[in-house]
Amino acid sequence: MVDVKNTIKQKYGKIASEVGNTSCGCSCSGSETSPSIDYPPLGDLGIANLGLGCGVPTDHADVKEGMTVLDLGSGAGIDVFIASKSVGVTGRVIGLDMTEQMITRARENALKLHISNVEFRLGEIEHMPVDSNSIDRVISNCVINLVPDKPTAFAEIYRVLKPGGSFIISDLVTTGTIPQEVRSDMELWAGCVAGAMDRQEYMALIQRVGFKDVQLLSEKPYDQTFSKAFGIVSVTVKGTK
Ligand SMILES: C[S@@+](CC[C@H](N)C(=O)[O-])C[C@H]1O[C@@H](n2cnc3c(N)ncnc32)[C@H](O)[C@@H]1O
Repeated sequence: MVDVKNTIKQKYGKIASEVGNTSCGCSCSGSETSPSIDYPPLGDLGIANLGLGCGVPTDHADVKEGMTVLDLGSGAGIDVFIASKSVGVTGRVIGLDMTEQMITRARENALKLHISNVEFRLGEIEHMPVDSNSIDRVISNCVINLVPDKPTAFAEIYRVLKPGGSFIISDLVTTGTIPQEVRSDMELWAGCVAGAMDRQEYMALIQRVGFKDVQLLSEKPYDQTFSKAFGIVSVTVKGTK
């Protein structure tokens, strides 16, 4: 699965370096037919929205002043900056991403936006450079499908959350069948298709890791072509440690 990681880093590194200061609307799948995400008006924060998400996890995260929030696969930082408004000066938001160019771009955006209660760390979700029991909310937007080892990803989320802390994750899962030839296509992995896990298995995995109060908060079709062929849907899921 080293090839998957390298293909993902290349794809998102290119997007981070090439796209201008406006949203590219390219979507996680690289398809222009994906629905736009229902963000509230973003104002200046729009520079951090590269159109790569598939939900709005912060809408469900109940982020409060003073909290420590961790965004997995933070990209150019859009969800980090949205959460930074809620945690205030006494809280902080950490963005984690394995693609260097994304981290660079997110740090530049933080400077441009004069947002100082955020930090961006280079690292992988499967072994996060984050202390155990230190996070109130883990959020993530269209990223876990890209992780080859999902059991380890959810075990890491469990490790870093404080007892009573929650994750709120928007992601792509499948309600149909993804053929083996698609599963082994690296480009389709990087495009958020080939790594989409079966919805029921995804929910069962989260339960197995030990999360309580596991909820499917929303579900909607993601992309017409892929929805029809493989039953891919965008979900937002919550679980509590
Ligand atoms: C589809 S983009 C989503 C970016 C952002 N969440 C947004 O909504 O704009 C996926 C991001 O996750 C990062 N990523 C993918 N797999 C990762 C992993 N295993 N560890 C850390 N970051 C990862 C990629 O580098 C990329 O920036």
